[in-house]
Amino acid sequence: MKRDSFNVLGIETSFDETAVSLVSSNGKILFEKLYNQLPLHERYGGVVPEIASRKHAAVLPQMINDSLKNNELDLSSVEAIAVTSGPGFIGSIIVGVMFAKGLAAVMQKPCIPVNHLAAHALTARLTNEVQFPYILLLVSGGHTQILVIKGSMDYQVLGGTLDDALGEAFDKIARMLDLPYPGGPAIEALAKSGNEKAFSLPKPMYKRSGCNFSFSGLKTAVRQIINKNGGSNNIDTRTKADICASFQYTVAEIIMDRLSNAIKFFRKSDYINLNANINVVIAGGVAANFYIRHFLKEHLIQNNCNLIVPEPKLCTDNGVMIAWAGIEIIKDFLSNHTAEEFVTKFSDMNFKPRSTWPLEEFRLSKI
Ligand code: KG4
Ligand code: ZN
Repeated sequence: MKRDSFNVLGIETSFDETAVSLVSSNGKILFEKLYNQLPLHERYGGVVPEIASRKHAAVLPQMINDSLKNNELDLSSVEAIAVTSGPGFIGSIIVGVMFAKGLAAVMQKPCIPVNHLAAHALTARLTNEVQFPYILLLVSGGHTQILVIKGSMDYQVLGGTLDDALGEAFDKIARMLDLPYPGGPAIEALAKSGNEKAFSLPKPMYKRSGCNFSFSGLKTAVRQIINKNGGSNNIDTRTKADICASFQYTVAEIIMDRLSNAIKFFRKSDYINLNANINVVIAGGVAANFYIRHFLKEHLIQNNCNLIVPEPKLCTDNGVMIAWAGIEIIKDFLSNHTAEEFVTKFSDMNFKPRSTWPLEEFRLSKI
């Protein structure tokens, strides 16, 4: 493998999306393919792990074959494989990891285990070339955290949710309102015609120190409004739109409040000089929400911060982010190791699938 130019195949199967991508070390996306399993899970109102794993196993080999063929490439263009090894549904992760290990063994290429959250965290470096360190707001279906990203394998968590993840709160509120799964896009669409000041909702943790979140009180307040209005079957669309808009507005205010504490911490620490512009990145599925993006952008500018958000399809789960995280890890490793050490380290494939994998534990010494 040449140090300055190599292609990494990314494989993502941690949840309900089967995704593959080939990305070059200079950031060029050679192909990306995503199989969205949503129609299989929709009628259950959430993702069914067993169905997800079986489908990943069924479609993954063909997706890679077709993507290579359609782009007039073959496996000789793949210099390393990066695969999501956690966190997520363990059955789904096992499918991706075992497939990646098998392929890497046959090809005699290195295989890099990638933390799914780290991949979300690093995407902005592919899309916007953001330099370390930066603040990250990670808001997905399973996670809500604020972190300082110091390196591709160096993360400091400043706070997280005490109960629901934000995406989960969107999904649950959508379900209360009889809106389709996933709830985020459905709430965002309906909120456009609503009045965000129609309902005054509680803001748990607001104005408290630190960067923790809580959404359960907010969820309960929404449930009470729905009940007061006769239950979801009896609420007119306009009221539903007002609830969605008020929820989104409240969420945006909470996030901005938590982020402003992170920014104060970041300025006080020795990461950056006091008046410098700070980069704040948002990642994860909820980052696809344009209302929240615009709200944060306006407020962050007033705090001398740049908001960086990858395009929506790179915010939700995808294969590009896994390939790119693999590239970041390889580059980082090669900056202080030899190519032989790299091959030795990543060819033994002695890593395991993990259902939980906190970002602080995603370190070279631990993979
Ligand atoms: O990162 P992601 O694709 O999957 C993981 O959880 O890892 O995030 C999915 C979550 C779901 O809860 C979904 O409702 C939420 O992201 N989401 C949104 C939007 N698009 C997806 N939430 C708010 N607004 C959106 N436009
Ligand atoms: Zn994700």
